[in-house]
Formats: sequence, C-alpha cells, structure tokens
Amino acid sequence: MMLKNTEVHKTDYVSEINRLKKEKNAVLLAHYYQVSEIQEIADYVGDSLGLARKAEQADADIIIFAGVHFMAETAKIINPEKKVLLPDETAGCSLAESAPADEFEKFVNKYPDHMVISYVNCTAAVKTMTDLVVTSGNAVKLIEALPEDQKIIFAPDKNLGAYINNITGRNMLLWEGTCEVHDILNAEKILKMQREHSDAKLVAHPECKGPVLQAADFVGSTSEMLKFTKNDDGKKYIVATETGLLHQMQKDSPDKEFMVVPSDETCACNDCPHMKKNTMEKLYLCLKNEKPEIELSDDVIEKARKPIDKMLKMSKDLKIIK
Ligand code: 13P
Ligand code: SF4
Repeated sequence: MMLKNTEVHKTDYVSEINRLKKEKNAVLLAHYYQVSEIQEIADYVGDSLGLARKAEQADADIIIFAGVHFMAETAKIINPEKKVLLPDETAGCSLAESAPADEFEKFVNKYPDHMVISYVNCTAAVKTMTDLVVTSGNAVKLIEALPEDQKIIFAPDKNLGAYINNITGRNMLLWEGTCEVHDILNAEKILKMQREHSDAKLVAHPECKGPVLQAADFVGSTSEMLKFTKNDDGKKYIVATETGLLHQMQKDSPDKEFMVVPSDETCACNDCPHMKKNTMEKLYLCLKNEKPEIELSDDVIEKARKPIDKMLKMSKDLKIIK
C-alpha cells in the first residue's frame, strides 16, 4: 500500500524521536495540553505538579519538556545539572507574562509582612521573590496547611486566587493576572449548554472565571479532572479547559462523551496558542540539535529552587504526591 507523504513524515518523527531519546538518554515529559501525537510519544504526560515531580525523579541526561517555558524552567531549576530542552522557546504563557519581575518586586515590597505564594505559572525571576510555589493540583491543600492568620500575596492568577479565597475563607491579596484561554470561557454559553445537556456534568479548571466555577460539578487541575471523569459514573461531560485534555479523557473513557465549552470569542480560543506551538517536527529537531536549551544563572536557580522544594516537600508530607 502506498503511504501518503504526511503518513511517512509522521512515522519518521515517531521512530526518529524514539531512536534519539534512547541514544541520548533523554526523557520526554509532556503536558496534557500538547497535541495528541506528542502526548502519545511522551514518557510521561501530566499536570504541572506531576511534571515537576517527574522532573525531580528524572534519571536521564536530557529532559525534553513538551509544554511551555515556565514548565521547562521549573524542570531546569530542579535539575541544574541536566540539559533541559523546550521544542519552541517562544512557547510562553499569558499568566507568567502578566507578572513582570520588576513590577512584581515593587508590589511585594509594599507588603513586607505578607508571605508570597506564586502559582507555578510564573517566570523563574518571580519565583526568586516567592516563599512558596503552588500548582492547581495542590494550592488549596497547601494554603489550608498554613497558619490561619498568615497574611498572603497570591500571584499571578486572580481567578485561581479568588477560588482559593472562597474555599479556604482566606483573604489573600491577589495579583491581577489571568490565563488568556480559561478567562474567556463564557459562563452564559456554558449555562445554555448545561440546559441543553441536562445529563452532562461540568468539569472546570480553577483558572476559569468565578461564574464558570460556581456552575461546575467538579473543579480541579488537569490531572484531577481526568481522574474525576474516569472514575465518575456519569456518561457525558462539558469540559471547561484547554482542548488537549480531551485526548486523554477520551482515551481513558472511550464510552463517555466529552464536549468543549465555547469562549467569548469566535476563534478556536480553547487551544492554548503557546502549548500548541510545539509540533512533532520541532520536537524531533530539538532533540537532534539539543536546542533550544533552557539556561538560567546559578543565582536564579538557587533562589527559585527554595519555594519549589518547599512545595514538593509539603506535597509529599500532605500525601498529595508520593
Ligand atoms: P495544570 O497544572 O492543571 O495542568 O495546569 C497548567 C496550566 O497551564 C493550566 O492552564
Ligand atoms: Fe498559560 Fe493559559 Fe496556556 Fe496554561 S492554558 S499555559 S495558563 S496561557
């Protein structure tokens, strides 16, 4: 049978990436928002917390991080002696960009009696000014474990921060950042969908706006949403997050139906433009050429590592991760 050109390329990328991974002792970590082909070839697919944990455990010379820049930076901070590659170095994150280090420093300096908690979706420079890093998979539990009267600055996601304030009864000071993908998921359209599909449950990422989270049957990180839809006895789900997660949801639960929610805009906005910058071709080239590589100064690594190590230790102590 004659193979179409695209099929030849696809096969070549998969076998070439696998060959290079072996030859170079590299491990491929991918986030759930990556295109399906990348998720399929990855050694591990996970949420930010799971990926940070895998990076910590990685027994390889090279980590190829199929995700966005702050995730690859986190892997480098945990593994300064390893080469960390990101297939497209311009794969950023609107949340991380919403907190420029110089402005963040001024903000933090205004509240010297506050503990600084940063969502992992921030730059390494912001992490150097942070006391504790959290992810969507551990934020509520880690913050609940702190003394009740602890004054806190939370950055950069105001939706996640407001959600945590709501759940924990805290009054954290919030930085005004948002995720360009989750923040525009439209609550009215979601409510309409819920009316039209009364048998469907709504699962949402905590980066969504308050009205979306209030309407949700389950709120959690990408891994937690995946676990919920896998173990739940429902058959139909409205999924308020980036489209990439539906690949694993459908794979884990082939007999269930998953629907993406509409956004305020008319574009395919539920695709994260940064996550989707990574392609099989870029992945192959980055592994072959061993670049783009994440490089950070020793000083940044040393300072940014402390709040990440604290997060990993607290998450282990609280048995959120092993
Ligand atoms: P998770 O940690 O839930 O995977 O989220 C990462 C992210 O970037 C969400 O937009
Ligand atoms: Fe950043 Fe949002 Fe993309 Fe996640 S989905 S990487 S928070 S822009």
